[in-house]
Amino acid sequence: MPIIVAPSILAADFSRLADEIKRVEQAGADWIHCDIMDGHFVDNISFGPGIVDLVRKQTKLPLDVHLMIEHADHYVPRFVKAGANSITVHVEPEAKHDVAKTLKQIRDADCRVGLTLNPATAFELIEPFLEKIDMLLVMTVHPGFGGQPFRPEMMEKVKRAADWNKSREPKIDIEVDGGINPETARVSIQNGANVLVAGTSIFRAQDYAEAIRELRGTN
Ligand code: DX5
Ligand code: ZN
Repeated sequence: MPIIVAPSILAADFSRLADEIKRVEQAGADWIHCDIMDGHFVDNISFGPGIVDLVRKQTKLPLDVHLMIEHADHYVPRFVKAGANSITVHVEPEAKHDVAKTLKQIRDADCRVGLTLNPATAFELIEPFLEKIDMLLVMTVHPGFGGQPFRPEMMEKVKRAADWNKSREPKIDIEVDGGINPETARVSIQNGANVLVAGTSIFRAQDYAEAIRELRGTN
């Protein structure tokens, strides 16, 4: 699977977001990762469909929308309208939605379907849905904030997903998110991940292109 780098705009300078989007696109980003937080499912508030719509107008890159919100099913249509190319929802009961129904809702809206689990959530909770998704996001930090340290013990879940993927065509993407830098990107890829979300290690770098090459391991 090709290595995909998805900068998380949560770490971008929002006072000049349009420039930041253009800069990471010119620097070689493959997707743009949009972290949606509602202050309920996670202990932080970020941005909504209005900002995703604004990002959509700045770039043709795929928008990878990560919903860390309760009742995602209620908001999916607004993110589809805003231009999301993939929408990822959480499997935990605290997300307060019917997971199977929401995955079908995203599929029926011609969006790529993503499912994610928090560090404390067992892999068994997502297994019943593996056949219904295009991407599994293994959170490598507890969601809610950028700049947190990577949790290496999450690689067990990445390995299990990669094993499951071996016998499957087409394969699902395996995404990691949280504390991804050149070193933890290496570890994640070695365990089977192919999509790397990174906020701090890209938007805090002087040279975005070099930062992206280092994550991809092509420097
Ligand atoms: C955290 C978000 C991540 C975060 C990544 O809840 O889902 O996408 O922004 O930021 P870094 O790369 O700084 O850990
Ligand atoms: Zn995220």
